[in-house]
This record gives sequence, C-alpha cells and structure tokens, in this order.
Amino acid sequence: MGKLRAAITGINAWVPEYRLTNEELSQMVDTTDEWIMQRVGIKERRILKGADMGSSELGANAVKGLLEKTGTSPDEIDLLICATVTPDMAFPATANIISDKAGIKNAFSFDINAACSGFIFALQTAAVYVESGRYKKVILVGADKMSSITDYTDRTTCTLFGDASGAVLLEPTTGENGIIDHILRTDGSGKNYLHMKAGGSMRPASHETVDAREHFVYQEGQTVFKFAVSKMADVAVEIMEKNGLTSDDIAWLVPHQANLRIIDATGRRMGLTPAKIMINIEKYGNTTAATIPLCIWEYEKKLKKGDNIILAAFGGGFTWGSLYLKWAYDPR
Ligand code: UT7
Repeated sequence: MGKLRAAITGINAWVPEYRLTNEELSQMVDTTDEWIMQRVGIKERRILKGADMGSSELGANAVKGLLEKTGTSPDEIDLLICATVTPDMAFPATANIISDKAGIKNAFSFDINAACSGFIFALQTAAVYVESGRYKKVILVGADKMSSITDYTDRTTCTLFGDASGAVLLEPTTGENGIIDHILRTDGSGKNYLHMKAGGSMRPASHETVDAREHFVYQEGQTVFKFAVSKMADVAVEIMEKNGLTSDDIAWLVPHQANLRIIDATGRRMGLTPAKIMINIEKYGNTTAATIPLCIWEYEKKLKKGDNIILAAFGGGFTWGSLYLKWAYDPR
C-alpha cells in the first residue's frame, strides 16, 4: 500500500451578517476610505454582534455547515482542532465548545494558537494525525472574533480586522493528491511587535490594565510589515524550490489576508500572475486563523482535482509558514 496522505475532502466557511464599512470607521476614528484602500486594501469587515457570542459561535456555524455539505455524521469525527487567538475563554479550549455545539461526541479536541499562521500550523498538525492511519475524519476550523480584541479608538489597528471562521474535513488517501509538504517557522522575539499586553498569566486583568487599554491588539505596523513581506515570500519560494515547482506549475497561491501589498509582494516573488492569487481581503479584512479557509471556500468552484496550491502566512509570534497541497476533488 502506498503512503497515506491527508486530503481536504470538504470546505465551508461562515461570516456574521454585520458589515463594518470604511465609512462607518471614518466616523469612529480619524481615517478615510482612501487611506485604508491604498495602504491595506480593505473595504469592509464582518462583525459578530450579540451578547455571549465568541469564536465558538463562528466556528460551530462553519463546522455544522461542513458536516451537512459533506454528508458526514458528527459521530464519525475522530478529532477536531481549532486554530484561534480569540478563544471563548482562557480555558476550556474553544475546540471543545465547538465540538459540543456541533454534536461531535466521539472525538477529542484541542486549540492551536499560532495567530495568523494558525490555519497552516493546524492543517499540518491535523495532516499528521490522518497520515498515521489511526484518524479517519479530522476537522480543522480556523475561527477568530478579532472584534473582541480590537481597539476601536486606535486607527492604526481598528481598520484591519474582522470576524470569520472556515473549516475543512481531512481524510486519508493513498492517491497522488492531498497535503504534500510544509515549512513552518517561529521566532518568539517577534512578540515585542505584535501582542496583547494583558489578560494572560504574566499580566492578569486588573483595573489598571483595563484603564490602559491593554486587552487589545498591540502592533508596530511597519516592523511587522517588513518581516511579513520578506518571511512570507521566503517560505513560499522555498517550498516551490524544494518541490521542483515553477510558477507555471502552480494553480493557486492562497495567502493570509493581512495587507494587499504583502500579498502582491509574495505573488511577485513567486512569479505568479495576479489571476492565480486568491484574494478577498477587500470584503472581510484580516480574520486571522480564518483568512485561508475563507478564501479557499470562496474559490472552491474554480478548483480542479490535482491543482497545485501553495498556502502562505505570516503572523503574531512571530509565526510563518507555507504548505503545498494538491487539491483532491473537482467542483461538485
Ligand atoms: O496579520 C498579522 C500580521 N500583521 C500584518 O501583516 C500587518 C503588517 N503591517 C501593515 O500591514 C501596515 O504596517 C499597516 C497597514 C498596519 C500600516 O500601514 P503603513 O503603510 O505601515 O503605515 P504607517 O504605520 O507607516 O503609518 C503611516 C501614516 C502615519 O502617519 P504619519 O506619522 O506619517 O503622520 C500613521 O499615523 O499613516 C497614519 N495612519 C493612518 N492614517 C489614516 C495609520 N493608520 C491610519 C489610518 N488612517 N487608519
């Protein structure tokens, strides 16, 4: 029997209804549609409204839809992994809450925190479980309610983020298609430039931390931008070279959607025409662990069995990585 690979056999995503437009943001802080479009490329983002609604609400909606779409019973799922930086609570894991909401009873679940690279890190982790032969149906869901940690008085960050979720079903295959290779990296010294100052064990919540607005994303944008442009493109090119792929061989690049300028730079370094790059940042902004599945879900009908696809991301941590997969099914 040939080597077992993990293949994506279904994908679904979910976004809340509320659209936070550049016009509305320009009434909240000193910004303009022109600045946001030129510097980042976002028109609007979705926001999850309502009391007691966390990332599990986003994730459970994507997972329930995925089960329905793929005709899978919740009882068949062996493992559910959730990639998130905005867990419902510090514990238990949001993955457990999503499994409970989706009626998944025979699985174990856990979270992965790798910020904007979360989906790629978790996809590779899920793939290893499937490749072991022991786990037949694994769900990976990226879910982030970024509005819960966004400071809507800070114009340097509040235009960037949105709420969304995306989920994939992974199953074993002995065929050619599926997840082929990955390059994953972290550099913890990057924490200085992108983090949330308080709310963890180092600086628990207090009146002082709340008054100092320390429970929101803190980002030194220019520094993160420089790292993102070089590291994301480096690993995307490296995985091409490692697998003997030219730009002609690649059907699609699925980049993390943080800034259109970072996406363009990565595509250029890989020698790709813009038509081969999945982009939806304009509609949803940066949804952290959800950007990549949200993109693939929107482009799903264009994907053909055997398509060579490169995923690439950079995010808080710092974390970054690329993953090479061959798409496993034709449009249904
Ligand atoms: O996904 C996780 C990883 N994160 C990223 O990859 C994000 C990487 N960073 C970026 O995408 C960009 O750095 C930002 C979009 C965050 C900022 O763009 P920038 O081109 O780096 O702008 P900047 O920080 O250099 O600021 C330029 C100017 C400043 O004004 P002065 O000092 O030149 O007068 C800012 O105060 O733009 C100003 N500015 C704004 N103006 C209008 C910053 N935010 C805004 C805004 N509206 N929303």
